Amino acid sequence: MQYQLPKDFFFGGAMSGPQTEGRWQDDGRIPSIWDTWSNLDITAFHNRVGSYGGNDFSSRMEEDFELLKSIGMDSVRTSIQWSRLLDIDGNLNPEGERYYHQLFATAKKVGIEIFVNLYHFDMPEYLFNRGGWESREVVEAYAHYARIAFETFGKEIRYWFTFNEPIVEPEMRYTVGGWFPFVKNYSRARAVQYNISLAHALGVREYRRAKAAGFMLEDSRIGLINCFAPPYTKDNPSEADLEALRMTDGVNIRWWLDLVTKGELPQDVIDTLQSRGVDLPIRPEDKLILADGVVDWLGCNYYHPERIQAPAKDTDENGIPNFADPYVWPEAEMNVSRGWEIYPQGLYDFAMKVRDEYPELEWFVSENGMGVEREDLKKDENGVIQDDYRVDFVRRHLEWIARAIQDGAKCRGYHYWAIIDNWSWANAFKNRYGFIEVDLEDNYNRRLKKSAKWLKQIATTHIVD
Ligand code: FCB
Repeated sequence: MQYQLPKDFFFGGAMSGPQTEGRWQDDGRIPSIWDTWSNLDITAFHNRVGSYGGNDFSSRMEEDFELLKSIGMDSVRTSIQWSRLLDIDGNLNPEGERYYHQLFATAKKVGIEIFVNLYHFDMPEYLFNRGGWESREVVEAYAHYARIAFETFGKEIRYWFTFNEPIVEPEMRYTVGGWFPFVKNYSRARAVQYNISLAHALGVREYRRAKAAGFMLEDSRIGLINCFAPPYTKDNPSEADLEALRMTDGVNIRWWLDLVTKGELPQDVIDTLQSRGVDLPIRPEDKLILADGVVDWLGCNYYHPERIQAPAKDTDENGIPNFADPYVWPEAEMNVSRGWEIYPQGLYDFAMKVRDEYPELEWFVSENGMGVEREDLKKDENGVIQDDYRVDFVRRHLEWIARAIQDGAKCRGYHYWAIIDNWSWANAFKNRYGFIEVDLEDNYNRRLKKSAKWLKQIATTHIVD
């Protein structure tokens, strides 16, 4: 079956500053939390492949943009690293400023539209030492970083986003405890989530102010990018399973969708959290701040669904509340990559939720992709990685997107993650996502994978088959 995507649907790829730039000690860049923690010999990082840093994008930006253009990409998202833009006193770092002007000008010359997000998991270390997202001081520092970014680059960028995946900060750092500071405390996680929501809203406020003051392009837009893993529970769920579903959806999805469309957080979720002893740092004046969180559109990063059930225990041994346990859906065991279930229909289900419950909201798929280990073993005799699985993965997701659009979803485009292999947090270079290979053994040279030819065909015709 063939699917036609709209003519003005944009096709591109996503990456981020910390994952591509490297040069982490150059250009006056101040330390970020990743610099220190990624360079320590600690268990969380024992699985990684390759060393800390980017993928040499900084010195190859023109070549990279040309390569992307040659495979039909019209747009690329990256981020402005907080620790490269500002110095330790919060002043603009002139070398950082020069770097981003150069990046945006290079993309423009090649004919690639750059989308920019601010925070992408990359807090300056000195702010982390002041409490990170648990501190209001950091929320205010974020608003300052946003203001400087808008005022400095407002005339160069049309599509802005306050955060990439704010839900990952409370999850990875404070619930799962997989990333520095390796905390497992649901209550602290939600406090972090609350403060990040305030920071997002202050970021939007700074954007609107900068626009009114003439710093931004007339047709620019502000948005939020989050990952939305639609939650599902068992067939024939119990009341308790449905409650677990309500709270998982409430915290991970509705929280953010309400924030960006209504400028408020779902009261039923806040009430349940507080009734179970979760301590949210709410102040009376916050309602006015959150009210500014309404955006022009949204980015949805989609990798996998979430399968949950009622928790076996309501609290852990320290009395920390637990609202849901994972549930392995038997069929799902069949279709997993790097532990992430592949379920393209989840994107359609998300699209229908937005269509029905937030009908005005426009959005796009801001990340979707498949990370694979040891792709070097998949090379043919010419050294080209034979990644048919990636074609299959993307095709199936695009089919569900096309169906969602036919059924009324306001989905405006698709960005693949990560269009060029890059450094990925605790895993470093272990899981490769790109349509373009980065050869660590050969000076970070770029080479198209087999899938790139297929992608070009789709991106230039907008026909998925
Ligand atoms: C997403 C992140 C991105 C990358 C992919 C694999 O959660 O936004 O930086 O690490 O996962």
